Amino acid sequence: MKIGIVTGGGDCPGLNAVIRAVAKTAAKRGWETLGIIGGYEGLLEPQNFRALDYKSLDGLLQRGGTILGTANRGQFSAKTGHGETRRLPKELLDATQRGMAQLGLTALVSVGGDGSLSIAQQMHEHGIPIIGVPKTIDNDLAATTITFGFDSAVACATDAVDRLHTTAESHNRVMVLEVMGRYAGWIAIYAGVAGGADVILIPEIPFRYESIVAAIQDREKKGKHFTIVVAAEGARLEGGDFVTAGAQQKNREARLGGIGAVVAAEIEQRTGKETRSLVLGHLQRGGSPTFMDRVLCTLFGAKAVELITEGRFGRMVSHNGKFVDSVPLAEATGKLRTVPLDEGFVRAARSLGISLGD
Ligand code: F6P
Repeated sequence: MKIGIVTGGGDCPGLNAVIRAVAKTAAKRGWETLGIIGGYEGLLEPQNFRALDYKSLDGLLQRGGTILGTANRGQFSAKTGHGETRRLPKELLDATQRGMAQLGLTALVSVGGDGSLSIAQQMHEHGIPIIGVPKTIDNDLAATTITFGFDSAVACATDAVDRLHTTAESHNRVMVLEVMGRYAGWIAIYAGVAGGADVILIPEIPFRYESIVAAIQDREKKGKHFTIVVAAEGARLEGGDFVTAGAQQKNREARLGGIGAVVAAEIEQRTGKETRSLVLGHLQRGGSPTFMDRVLCTLFGAKAVELITEGRFGRMVSHNGKFVDSVPLAEATGKLRTVPLDEGFVRAARSLGISLGD
């Protein structure tokens, strides 16, 4: 057996740990693993790949990014807007199939987010033996309770909230931290709760400035002259639109960004309090995976090879809340997992007196 592994979409901590787990589990079965370079394009002629032999796997568990490179643009981009999926032309799917045959690959593991996995589903429908592994710091895939990369991103964002606390307190300022997460507020609500933020703005709950200002003034009355606001990049004003960074490029999802600065300016204007904003940005995607992500990646990688062994193609490795499982790729894509409004985090945040801006 010879299998391939490809990483697609935005990178995140833990991709290399999955690569390692897949190649190690495969090697244990006596299989060869090829790492496809630069996303799915690496399968097309002239193919771009590297052998992932046992020796080449050293140091991968803790290494950030992906040694295979990744792509979220080009011929294989599947996402064109909020929830819009593009169908790949038959010729491209044929060329992919041909490329795999030329490399002698009997199966492919695709590690990616919603975009890469919806391509994987199209490949499966086309007859390509493929298994998906869910990756995204956004943690927004409906078919799995957790994606790897999320824990590392939250650790980074929590550290930022902690750091902002001390400087906000020293200067009696309002600090607004903008975190990633696209159309889901998971990173914001986890990091906000973990870091003790006072206001958390998530896409699931459109906010009102009156409410944010009331929270800040309430703190002032209680003698707390600083406030920490965590804003998801997809947070938006009631009746307002998402704030985007630059014009949308062809065949790419809109790039969110800028809400933190907008909110900070409005807070300063309405309260008269000195307010600063910070975009945490790609720091959330860089660096070593946390131990939680390393474990998840290892379990996910091993499960992917198990599914290949069983010939259960067209499935995505998942976590069902109790253990590592799998679901059909068709069920795994196109459905967003957002923060539920009437349970868990939202309820706990409210009961602690954290303002959610509504
Ligand atoms: O989906 C992961 C993510 O980091 C989002 O949280 C963010 O909106 C987006 O990717 C940023 O994409 P890019 O790396 O293209 O700027």
